[in-house]
Amino acid sequence: MLQGRTTLSKFLIEQLRGTEDQADLAALLVDVTAAVKAIASMTAKGALGGYLGSLGTENVQGETQKKLDVLSNDAMIQACEWGGLVAGMASEELDEPYTLPREFERGAYLLVFDPLDGSSNIDVNVSVGTIFSVLRHGRLGDPSTSDYLRPGVEQVAAGYAIYGPSTMMVLTVGRGTHGFTLDREIGNFILTHPDLKIPEDTSEFAINASNERFWEAPVQRYVAECKAGRTGDRGRDFNMRWIASMVADVHRILMRGGIFMYPKDTKEPAKPGRLRLMYEANPIAFVIEQAGGAASTGRARILELQPEALHQRVPVMLGSRHEIERLERYHREHDSGTDRPFASPLFKDRSLYSAEGSA
Ligand code: AHG
Ligand code: MN
Ligand code: MN
Repeated sequence: MLQGRTTLSKFLIEQLRGTEDQADLAALLVDVTAAVKAIASMTAKGALGGYLGSLGTENVQGETQKKLDVLSNDAMIQACEWGGLVAGMASEELDEPYTLPREFERGAYLLVFDPLDGSSNIDVNVSVGTIFSVLRHGRLGDPSTSDYLRPGVEQVAAGYAIYGPSTMMVLTVGRGTHGFTLDREIGNFILTHPDLKIPEDTSEFAINASNERFWEAPVQRYVAECKAGRTGDRGRDFNMRWIASMVADVHRILMRGGIFMYPKDTKEPAKPGRLRLMYEANPIAFVIEQAGGAASTGRARILELQPEALHQRVPVMLGSRHEIERLERYHREHDSGTDRPFASPLFKDRSLYSAEGSA
């Protein structure tokens, strides 16, 4: 039964053989799996482990930290700091990058992560995840914040873990996107979903529709057309899902297609989006593109953005390629003023497109 199974470490060693990253990158990703197993065990214990609830502290984004946010952050640091593989780490839960203790050897990589994604879902026992991104540290010496600010196209590996009914890891080293399922009895991740491909077309979208009145016109247009279904311009019905853990929404898209949007909104004008570029948008965009999907802000490819700050936020639209291209077209038409039919008085009569949305 165990014969013929490909473990994550075997798979990575084979994928990276002959590349400049061969030994060290596989070893680092195996260290990440050690943290993922520890986080999987804590999330699975739930209330029995005393892990639920908040700590009462805030992270740099002003969000209340859950116990599991901080414990997951510690698990990632402990699993990855000692092996001589990373030069430093940065996390959603740390204001500044983490400097390795003196006694540990410095390695070639920078590891950036969201230790627990979807943490509002922990206490209600809905799937959460971990997101990670690996960059090269291009020089000697401990990295400073500016060393981390590399565009997503420079990632050498990225992926996520999802703690759902089963625990899975989905990752890429730039040679396709591959999924592994944790065999809990044996403690290994086994290749179960090789070479994932996102269908180019879809009739399923994910967005937090309670923000509708704060969206920009192109997003309002897209969602209005999906909701109009077969009676509207799209000529077919759409389905909607929103889990509020990006990892879980993205996982569904990798399994059966769809798109996910967290667009820019005017709810908090100082924030150009909800999700963070370095440890949410970039790693997920790499995974999505390697599976044949697209990832955009609506106006630019996410992976080509030049980061300006570690905790920078960006608008995110990703998934099935033809739908993301359509969203980009709606943004272009809006920006050039050629979306007039949509901005017609007729459309403005629809409840969706009133007041704030009619810019
Ligand atoms: P995090 O728990 O790491 O702060 O991220 C949560 C993110 C993302 O996973 C999810 O898609 C989104 O926030 C949910 O936002 P809403 O609360 O607006 O639904
Ligand atoms: Mn997150
Ligand atoms: Mn998080």
